Amino acid sequence: MAKKKISIADFKKYKEEGKKYTFVTAYDYTTASIVNDSETEIILVGDSAAMVMLGRNSTVGMTMGEMIGFVKPVVLGAPDTFVIGDMPFGSYNVSPEQAIENCNRMLMETNCDAIKLEGGVNFAPTIRRLTDAGIPVVGHIGLTPQTATSLGGFRVQGGTPESAAQLIEDARKLEEAGAIAIVIECVPSVVGKAVTEAVKIPIWGIGAGPDVDCQVLVTQDALGMYKGMKPKFVKHFAHIREAMVEGLNAFHEETLDGTFPSPEYAYNKAVDIPKLY
Ligand code: KIV
Repeated sequence: MAKKKISIADFKKYKEEGKKYTFVTAYDYTTASIVNDSETEIILVGDSAAMVMLGRNSTVGMTMGEMIGFVKPVVLGAPDTFVIGDMPFGSYNVSPEQAIENCNRMLMETNCDAIKLEGGVNFAPTIRRLTDAGIPVVGHIGLTPQTATSLGGFRVQGGTPESAAQLIEDARKLEEAGAIAIVIECVPSVVGKAVTEAVKIPIWGIGAGPDVDCQVLVTQDALGMYKGMKPKFVKHFAHIREAMVEGLNAFHEETLDGTFPSPEYAYNKAVDIPKLY
């Protein structure tokens, strides 16, 4: 049965009903079409593309042009899935006007359903302006990879009563500012639960324990494709990397021993070849 694209109203209803759902990343047409064929409700075209697709060691250098280049094919490949375009570092932190301009560009050039930006209380005024301008905004708090250096590196956030309280405050301010949902990354499960209970908008957790409204994973992590760093919260639900290496080795072996391509994989029409040599 064809999947029906989830709406912002559905997310809110799911929260009221306690219904869980999932959200993964995609950065290209083929992966987006695979996610679209699955039950997954949401795709984020994350700036994690910097690491997963471009092999960089940080998300900070991503540009608007690069992000738009990743978002466009995902929207085309996943017509039945809610697609969020991630705003790269430097595209929204200068002024609310700059943020509106770049978020408009993201929505208009890619046709994605919403945008995501990182930041807590300090970004609430920007989110208010974006919301008033008609832009659906997803917030991102906890471990925010674009500013990981200022947070002391890629480490668990909200581990003290003060920092946990700050995350609850961040979530409340983002909700008041009009965010449609908030991603919370890499926090103790009790903090994920407290933040989820503190607001009415959906809380989408990555490494935030079981009590958030929706579980988020990077597809390459969830399917066991990425070879680099594996955070504690990542579970491999499939082992696609091994399957791909095995498949490529089978192609290599059959090429070397001559079993590929057999007639089944060749154009077998007889043709009289003129004697030109
Ligand atoms: O860029 C990204 O993939 C993200 C997710 C980790 C939520 O922001």
